Amino acid sequence: MNDLDPIVDAARQAFAAASSPADLENAKAQFTGKAGRITELMKGLAALSVEEKKSRGAAINVAKQAIEAALAARRQALAEAELEQQLHAEALDVTLPGRAREPGGLHPVTLTMERIELIFASMGFDVADGPEIESDWHSFTSLNNPPNHPARSMQDTFYVDIQGEDGIHYNLRPHTSPMQVRYAHQHIKKFADAVKAGQPLPEIRVIAPGRTYRVDSDATHSPMFHQCEGLWLGENVSFKDLKVVFTDFCRTFFESDDLALRFRPSFFPFTEPSAEIDIQFQSGPLAGKWLEVAGSGQVHPAVVRNMGLDPEKYIGFAFGMGPDRLTMLRYGVNDLRLFFEGDVRFLRQFR
Ligand code: PHE
Repeated sequence: MNDLDPIVDAARQAFAAASSPADLENAKAQFTGKAGRITELMKGLAALSVEEKKSRGAAINVAKQAIEAALAARRQALAEAELEQQLHAEALDVTLPGRAREPGGLHPVTLTMERIELIFASMGFDVADGPEIESDWHSFTSLNNPPNHPARSMQDTFYVDIQGEDGIHYNLRPHTSPMQVRYAHQHIKKFADAVKAGQPLPEIRVIAPGRTYRVDSDATHSPMFHQCEGLWLGENVSFKDLKVVFTDFCRTFFESDDLALRFRPSFFPFTEPSAEIDIQFQSGPLAGKWLEVAGSGQVHPAVVRNMGLDPEKYIGFAFGMGPDRLTMLRYGVNDLRLFFEGDVRFLRQFR
């Protein structure tokens, strides 16, 4: 036992007591740092003779090496402990079941829209799309519903801060009926060409599904809702054809021949005569009740004229139905608002 052994022991104890890498570096400074005990002893060598320097220096070096070895061992032990702790903290249980992403699905109203398009396409109808922000002329005036006409209050809608050429604000279309005139205008060249060539007049047979808006909100009305317009114009298209087409559509849509239709006299500025279309299921939970599903009528001559067509040559019918309502009836949903709340627990059921 020499005077250096207690220093080595003290270093070992200090290193063992250090519980973190930072503590360990502090402890090291006390022994081999700039003002550490070993460093101080080295400085003291200067005062010794050459012979003494040799033996004392060698002894100090042995002590220093022992301290450095202890330091290295403790560093490694602390690093391993830290890694161990980290691995423990970040442990993964690979046997846990995974969090699968559920497959998505189409919205019930989208399913209805697709169904409507498919059925009418099979009857030779084109499918058209149009703007939801409409001019006053397209939403009302072209449909024989001029400014200040009382019938405008049936379709109170929202207005946007943009004025049309007529100085009247654009509106969020309150129905899909503007598509009647838009579609005719888009295809007007076909009619002109046919007349020029002396060919039979081409027909218009189209549906226009899409979003519509009104100032309305309760269990059966939403400020945003859906409509699907239908239009069939030709040289000899009559109310009888409307009855056949719409009856056929309803029976196909609801997959039931056990379905009665009623055309109840009504008023729209753009049709004359006009009718609400009611349906009645003969069986099931809704049996016996008359349920309104569409407005309809023979297209008014003034509207045909606004399409750029000759009302003496073109006659036919239009209808506007509510796909939201059809979806409620088909699936037995009793509150329209459920469709637009985005609750996956509701939507999942239609997947
Ligand atoms: N546009 C009418 C409505 O929204 C429905 C309708 C369309 C009526 C076509 C007749 C002809 O109530």
